[in-house]
Amino acid sequence: MDTSPSILNRLFSLGGKNVLLAGASGGIGQVLAVALAEAGATVAVHGRNPERVQQTCARVEAAAGKAVPFTADLTQVEACRNLVNEAQAALGRLDVLINCAATNRRKPMAQVTPEDFDAIVAVNLRSIYFLSQAAYPVMRAQGGGKIIHIGSINSFYGLDTVSVYGLTKGALAQLTKVMAVEWAADNIQVNCLTPGFFLTPLSKPLWADREKARWFRERIPLRRPGQPEELVGAALLLASRASSYITGQNIVVDGGFLAGGSWERDEI
Ligand SMILES: NC(=O)c1ccc[n+]([C@@H]2O[C@H](COP(=O)([O-])OP(=O)(O)OC[C@H]3O[C@@H](n4cnc5c(N)ncnc54)[C@H](O)[C@@H]3O)[C@@H](O)[C@H]2O)c1
Repeated sequence: MDTSPSILNRLFSLGGKNVLLAGASGGIGQVLAVALAEAGATVAVHGRNPERVQQTCARVEAAAGKAVPFTADLTQVEACRNLVNEAQAALGRLDVLINCAATNRRKPMAQVTPEDFDAIVAVNLRSIYFLSQAAYPVMRAQGGGKIIHIGSINSFYGLDTVSVYGLTKGALAQLTKVMAVEWAADNIQVNCLTPGFFLTPLSKPLWADREKARWFRERIPLRRPGQPEELVGAALLLASRASSYITGQNIVVDGGFLAGGSWERDEI
């Protein structure tokens, strides 16, 4: 391996790379869009709400990065295909696809309706399947690429009231492996970045609830929520040449939550 002084730059720079970030207008997606643009990528910023997409683009540009806005409701398969095609047409090539869009409706299983079930599966699983399927021929034709799904510790940990969200995230962990196996020969690495409990606008009400915040703190060895910036290191690893031999993995960033608990932890 080359040990020239530019080794970090060669491995981690995203200069000249194009990233499609589906779900870039939320708490985590926005931070990832800015960070990957700072690493040199041009970012196709996707969200549902045009104003929030523009907000992300403005933050990317304020960090001297390049952003191109896209708006689409990904509950329709055709919209997923169009998003990939439009991003490729606008950017020329597609080096990295990040699947960050997700939705949730917290309810006990007894109250989940077929409509709840379909609405969550459509965004959290079906859109990711078909975005990735649409990106595949583009990446194969250009000699390779990277696909990063954003999972959840609900892939591995059963939590009440999130039965449907949890099953979509569990399926994503499995899908990561099959995609990695099928597309390895095309030099496409597929991994899942799995956050624990992070502080975002979406999760703020949970952390504001004293009982829930206490439950989290008692079970997270680092005793605090993650900040979206704490996902940037792993995202950059998975988006860059540095992960050229990493594929089919679920990379968990959770403050130690899934590692286990303490017998003697004081109550907080
Ligand atoms: N916040 C956390 O603690 C946490 C923990 C584990 C995993 N995650 C995962 O991280 C990712 C980002 O989460 P976040 O907290 O930033 O959430 P968020 O709600 O702020 O962002 C979700 C994104 O998904 C997009 N989206 C939702 N429904 C859509 C639809 N129908 N069509 C198109 N786009 C749609 C939104 O536009 C937004 O950009 C998600 O995959 C989530 O499951 C978050």
